[in-house]
Amino acid sequence: MPPSPKNVPISPATKGLLAHCRRTAAVAKLIAHHLFLPSEEKNLLCAACLLHHRSTGLLAPESMARLLVDIFGEALRVDDPVPVIVRGVLNAYDVPGSGTVLESRLAGILRLADAFDQDMEAQPIDGEEVGEILERLRGGVDAGLWPEESIHALVESTSPPSIREPGTWRLPVFPQAALRTLRLMRDPRANLADVVEAASLDPVIAGLVMQLANSPLFGSRTWISTLSQAIVRLGFATSQKVITSAALRPMFSSPSLQQAWHHSLQVADLSEQLACHAGTIDPAEAYLAGLLHDVGQIALHSMQLYDSARLQGLVSGGCPQIYAESLLLRTDHAKLGAEIAAGWRLPETMVSAIRQHHRSEKAESPLAHLLYVAEYLSASEEDLPSITRLETSLKGIGLALDDIGDCTVSALGSWLAAA
Ligand SMILES: [Fe+2]
Ligand SMILES: [Fe+2]
Ligand SMILES: [Fe+2]
Repeated sequence: MPPSPKNVPISPATKGLLAHCRRTAAVAKLIAHHLFLPSEEKNLLCAACLLHHRSTGLLAPESMARLLVDIFGEALRVDDPVPVIVRGVLNAYDVPGSGTVLESRLAGILRLADAFDQDMEAQPIDGEEVGEILERLRGGVDAGLWPEESIHALVESTSPPSIREPGTWRLPVFPQAALRTLRLMRDPRANLADVVEAASLDPVIAGLVMQLANSPLFGSRTWISTLSQAIVRLGFATSQKVITSAALRPMFSSPSLQQAWHHSLQVADLSEQLACHAGTIDPAEAYLAGLLHDVGQIALHSMQLYDSARLQGLVSGGCPQIYAESLLLRTDHAKLGAEIAAGWRLPETMVSAIRQHHRSEKAESPLAHLLYVAEYLSASEEDLPSITRLETSLKGIGLALDDIGDCTVSALGSWLAAA
């Protein structure tokens, strides 16, 4: 008996193409929603978007069968897979201007969403911002590729909300203990007493330092009961990492930011390892940059300036976070995070690294490149994958792909995430 299409594995080569089809469907949905299309037409459009590469030969037959089952359910007859009505839209997509009025209208939306996604994929090479892409896509109206109403709907439905001045955002103040540790990291005269003082600024931080020093990670059977003994056991560098991460954790305390915080701890851990490999970046600075790289997520959650359901709709439709943010807000958590870091008067290298951590083609410092590589190692799916950007960033920190193969989250990183 042949296996059910549901159980047929999809080859990695096909996955990228399917991801493009899903994003095309998500963008097409935005347009359809703005044009008040009835739900049957939206569903038809969606199915056509998901299948618009059916004839390119890029989809293996097994993958195609599985995709069809995902869209239309198990009941579909595999020998006549694409329902006639969807085929009509796909034919009109292949030949602009053909088909019925409805088929031609839906094909125009599909063509526009498809072109938009391809331009987003080309961003690492072209460097175009979303506003520039949309402006250029207006040219498709005169070329007969899509009607005026489609591009108008895409521009209107993604018109950015007015963002208030960063000074008016309700954001947490930079924690005193983290500030103190940051100064200590830059002070060659800092000593044990200074670190003890920084840790004792907050009982939660002091408790975490004690807990770690007495944990199996540090192996000794002798129970430690004073903060200074704990810091001696952990060592200067580890103590600073624990204090800084514990001090920053409350900023990510809301349940919706928990995942972002765990991810930040991972990226901090990986950033530090990359800095040690690269040998040209201070590991402590890399660790702090990793902890703070996604701080812009706090701004997104606190500003409430956008329709989070629409943003969520794009993300659950397969659009990476940065893609969805830059389409709907014309900014993203990296740019917002840089505004926050600048407001905290963090060093300019840190601010620009946060701003460019997803845009390595615009990176001005090795720290930004390092964050990009750490994001890659953390398997974060915040942005479209890009070999071009990865290669640029590896070059920016003087490493090759082979050099970073052993970088995985350390035992300390896992302990901090679980603490
Ligand atoms: Fe396409
Ligand atoms: Fe990010
Ligand atoms: Fe991230």
